[in-house]
Amino acid sequence: MARRPLIAGNWKMNGLRGDGLALASALVQRMKAETGPAFDMVVCPPFTLVAGVGAAVAGSGIALGGQDCHGAEKGAHTGDIGAAMLADLGCAFVIVGHSERRTDHAETDAQVKVKAEAALAAGLTPIVCIGETASQRDAGDTMEVVKGQLAGSLPEGASAANTVIAYEPVWAIGTGRTPTTGEVQEVHALIRGELAARLGGGEGGAGGLRILYGGSVKPANAGELMALPDIDGGLIGGASLNADDFWAIAECCQ
Ligand code: PGA
Repeated sequence: MARRPLIAGNWKMNGLRGDGLALASALVQRMKAETGPAFDMVVCPPFTLVAGVGAAVAGSGIALGGQDCHGAEKGAHTGDIGAAMLADLGCAFVIVGHSERRTDHAETDAQVKVKAEAALAAGLTPIVCIGETASQRDAGDTMEVVKGQLAGSLPEGASAANTVIAYEPVWAIGTGRTPTTGEVQEVHALIRGELAARLGGGEGGAGGLRILYGGSVKPANAGELMALPDIDGGLIGGASLNADDFWAIAECCQ
């Protein structure tokens, strides 16, 4: 069975209430007009907008996600948000290990793994992000880096049903630069192979687990990226802030 593409919008630290609600309702309108979309869609607003956007997308078929969660269930962690809190607001997904978290908050693979496990424990699907920096790619270390991050960040208990991987080359995020389709497919095939070694290659393991590509995806390049055999959707930053662009990207998944 084919893997159903997932288009995820990572709004990052963008949007006051008015912006977020307008964007959410524009997406809901498009989803309502769609008969049998060929993709799943999730929007991941900043924490301040999770509840409001959740109310706006409820019942529309558009899922809700957080951008991060703490590794602990609850407790003395000022400023942090737990996975159960996101689930409580209707989230089904949470992004963990985004390179901006790894850089801005010095998150390690081990911490990302704990966060992903906390997400699973709360019934959320973690979208586990991995990807090399420009200097790692230039040094020819991409495959080793991606392999290491995957091995270190994949939660125990991961399966096709409960976990999503996002490959995001750091140098492609927000830069307008993307790897060639050959380079993207090569890394995705490596990830799928590593997942097969860990989880088995069947539908419940690597065969069914969705691997998203992220990094400067836009309507103009989404078609060729989404057509690659091991790409099962996208994690979209900048372009997810524009309903027309985000929708156009999703429609490339046919
Ligand atoms: P971008 O961001 O689409 O703006 O490059 C992607 C991401 O960081 O998830």
